[in-house]
Amino acid sequence: MNRPLHLALLLLLAAGAAAAETGSFVGAGVCASCHPAQSTRQDKSAHALSLHAAAQHPLAARFAANEWLTREPSFRVRYRRSPNGIRAQGHDKENVIDIPVEWAFGAGEQAVTLVTRIDSEWHLEHHFSYYSAIGAMAPTAGHSALQPKTLPEAMGLPYKTKDPAVGILGCFECHSTGPVRISPGNILQPAEAGVRCEACHGPGRPHVQAASRGDIRQARTLIANPKRTPAQEILVKCGQCHRPPATAGTSIDWNYSWNVRHQPVYLAQSKCMTKSAGQLSCLTCHDPHSPLKETSKDTYRERCLACHDGRSARAVPVNSGPCRKDGACATCHMPAVSPQPALRFTNHWIGIYDPAKPLRPRNQ
Ligand code: HEC
Ligand code: HEC
Ligand code: HEC
Ligand code: HEC
Ligand code: HEC
Ligand code: HEC
Ligand code: HEC
Repeated sequence: MNRPLHLALLLLLAAGAAAAETGSFVGAGVCASCHPAQSTRQDKSAHALSLHAAAQHPLAARFAANEWLTREPSFRVRYRRSPNGIRAQGHDKENVIDIPVEWAFGAGEQAVTLVTRIDSEWHLEHHFSYYSAIGAMAPTAGHSALQPKTLPEAMGLPYKTKDPAVGILGCFECHSTGPVRISPGNILQPAEAGVRCEACHGPGRPHVQAASRGDIRQARTLIANPKRTPAQEILVKCGQCHRPPATAGTSIDWNYSWNVRHQPVYLAQSKCMTKSAGQLSCLTCHDPHSPLKETSKDTYRERCLACHDGRSARAVPVNSGPCRKDGACATCHMPAVSPQPALRFTNHWIGIYDPAKPLRPRNQ
């Protein structure tokens, strides 16, 4: 490595340390200087974009469109940009509430949900989320059934800041990288917004220090490379946020459509996984650094055919027709499930489905 790059790196490291105070986490900006290939792709992924200060979200103009939204029985809410950031304004017949919107969760591949700190004990998950499939605001997942009586209730659902079961701190932990800083008054500040390098590779400072002094062999031992991790453990690692496969004795409600979003839980049920002697993991089909939408249907088909070559997957009937081995395999064998309109997940329990019953394979 040449000298100028070396110096630039040390400066970057110093800046990272001062800004984040997060010990051995250095931030994706530092990794990018030596690993541009992974970084330029990962920068654009939904992982990297899964948390923003609300005003900085790329879709801010869509969710803060200053349009009146109505909520039964008699409430109106609008989100708009002000000189100090995004604000939410709520009205009923007598009252007005006007509060800042601080955080926007979700890259917007599917949805963006807005969050505001109310006081040290409580945060608000706003009632209206932005859904990309419909290009509009609609109730946040889990809110439709709630019936507000007061204006504060109409604004959204309060969450405890810290609560081991459903605290707002948990949202930050899965949507950011490194330890979340908790300032006096329970002001939450993620070390690095979004799911970045060190969320999967672990804290990188020792690796970077070894690499900077040219000790490549040691650098390699000081960073986790999931390439060498067995399939079953990859499911657990990704499952840290996507939910890990069920352990023995845990029962899963296979009729509850929201559970389909927990891909590791479902993939672990597949015969493709259980009968392939540890050959199948999330990484068989997904490039961990690339945006999902850059993967074509043909790529998934190739992955299936790597194990199910044209000879062993017999031409079998599809209701009245054959198994379409020429088609996009996942369409039938990993059906889409929509637990609510405008959200869509892929059933990772690979199997043979009755098209009317996409939650569970017909013979299981
Ligand atoms: C000063 C340059 C430098 C920086 C900064 C750097 N790396 Fe590396 N990294 C290397 C070198 C050199 C290797 C070993 C050669 C190779 O595999 O390209 C390496 C290898 C790796 C590997 C593969 C390890 C293996 O099994 O061989 C991973 C994973 C990795 N780096 C991740 C990261 C992450 C994450 C960051 C940021 C926290 C980071 N690197 C920052 C230089 C750097
Ligand atoms: C630190 C938590 C975390 C970890 C660890 C994690 N993910 Fe994610 N993942 C997320 C979040 C949050 C999203 C939602 C992104 C968004 O806002 O749309 C996501 C989204 C995704 C998507 C959809 C991306 C898109 O472009 O729509 C894929 C695919 C994915 N993750 C695969 C993986 C795999 C494979 C692993 C393990 C190698 C993994 N994830 C590990 C948190 C995590
Ligand atoms: C256990 C980790 C975890 C926690 C806690 C968590 N999320 Fe997520 N979140 C994810 C993952 C993983 C995805 C990607 C889901 C997928 O596409 O399968 C996601 C996706 C999202 C999305 C994109 C839309 C969607 O449903 O895919 C939004 C918005 C979101 N989360 C908001 C929140 C908010 C707000 C909270 C706190 C109330 C929260 N999340 C708590 C892991 C988590
Ligand atoms: C969602 C988890 C996840 C995130 C986020 C992530 N990586 Fe990785 N990374 C992986 C996995 C999994 C592998 C092993 C890939 C494989 O098997 O080919 C890997 C491999 C690597 C390697 C080694 C490549 C090789 O051929 O051995 C480098 C270098 C690397 N990542 C750098 C980065 C950098 C830099 C970032 C941030 C810009 C990053 N990663 C973000 C999961 C992740
Ligand atoms: C790592 C290898 C591997 C990959 C990749 C793989 N499978 Fe499989 N699959 C298997 C094995 C092994 C079985 C079990 C065969 C048996 O029962 O003897 C299986 C079984 C199946 C079955 C029958 C399930 C049942 O319940 O009877 C279907 C359908 C299937 N796979 C479709 C697919 C599709 C579609 C893909 C791509 C999205 C895919 N597989 C990817 C290895 C794989
Ligand atoms: C056999 C191939 C295959 C494997 C293995 C696989 N996926 Fe997927 N995954 C897909 C397909 C196909 C899609 C849908 C892609 C699309 O719609 O563009 C998908 C979509 C996703 C999404 C987007 C949300 C959704 O549900 O549609 C996430 C998140 C995800 N996968 C995570 C994972 C994780 C985590 C693992 C490991 C437990 C995993 N996947 C293993 C094929 C696979
Ligand atoms: C149009 C929907 C559809 C598509 C596309 C499709 N299949 Fe199938 N597949 C089915 C149905 C239905 C069955 C069960 C037929 C029966 O009743 O035996 C089946 C059965 C199977 C089986 C288990 C039976 C056997 O042959 O041992 C495998 C494996 C399989 N398909 C793999 C694939 C692969 C790989 C692809 C893509 C190259 C694919 N399928 C594309 C609908 C489909």
